[in-house]
Amino acid sequence: MSSIGWGKIILLGEHAVVYGYPALAAALDRGVQIGAVPTPAGGALRVDVPSWNVKVDAGDDSPFARGLAAIADHVGVGRPPLTLVGDAQIPPGAGLGASAAFAVAIARELLAYAKKPADARAIAAAADASEQVLHGRASGVDVALAIAGGVGVFRKSTGLRPFPLQGVRVLVGPSGAPRSTAAMVDKVASETGGKADDTRLRDLGSLADVGATALAARDFATLGQTMDRAHALLTELGVSTPLLDGMCKAARDAGAFGAKLTGAGGGGAVIALAPRDKEAAVLAAWKVAGVTGFVATIGAR
Ligand code: PMV
Repeated sequence: MSSIGWGKIILLGEHAVVYGYPALAAALDRGVQIGAVPTPAGGALRVDVPSWNVKVDAGDDSPFARGLAAIADHVGVGRPPLTLVGDAQIPPGAGLGASAAFAVAIARELLAYAKKPADARAIAAAADASEQVLHGRASGVDVALAIAGGVGVFRKSTGLRPFPLQGVRVLVGPSGAPRSTAAMVDKVASETGGKADDTRLRDLGSLADVGATALAARDFATLGQTMDRAHALLTELGVSTPLLDGMCKAARDAGAFGAKLTGAGGGGAVIALAPRDKEAAVLAAWKVAGVTGFVATIGAR
């Protein structure tokens, strides 16, 4: 048996979502798959994700180890002799929800091992324990998507409201630049004075609503425009970088409907929406900037 946590992109509304505004988010068609195998006699709880070069014991002092320990403590399972082997198809630290996908897959496995009910609420509570350790103040959007998959509008107050969507393709460009979600959330707090009525945050929330309607109607031209405007607002809030700006411009110049940073910013990934016959040109433009992007079909579940 193995468990999955979906990776995700935020199409619109990152940062504003921390202040109670809506975010439009979608699962990627990839994530983190975890399977549990017994650790040889005497071994403790471990996690091994070869594609991330992560091989840690729950007692180690590293972020993934602390996340693992937080989930095990939350589940109340102690430190069983298990090795959780992960197959990760998304890069860590890129704003694609890797840490939430990791936490959700591990929470599912440990709840199953402990023979405890693994409903969405229990999985979310256990995964949140890890997210709090790794990210501090998180809205919960990553965990909600990692559990449910699909596409939806997320609000802190109401959780994820999914809507049906099929076959929409998004270009994803992981810039390779590391960043810290917590540092970017702090930056927005100092830029806005931590006030939810900041017009930029409010506008980001409104764009998420407009974008959700456009996505449901498959009006990609409008959705692309909302993405461009959201990127400009995120730039004003200080969470973009010259590399991310350059990737967005390159995507637009190559014929994309729109492009923006996704997730916390400060590095991480850019997303673009493009007509099918322009996708290759966008990927080629990113390649010139040293970024290997990929096409994902959103809404997997
Ligand atoms: O960790 P990331 O890069 O996916 O960013 C999460 C999105 C934020 O809105 C910046 C933070 C949050 O918890 O919603």
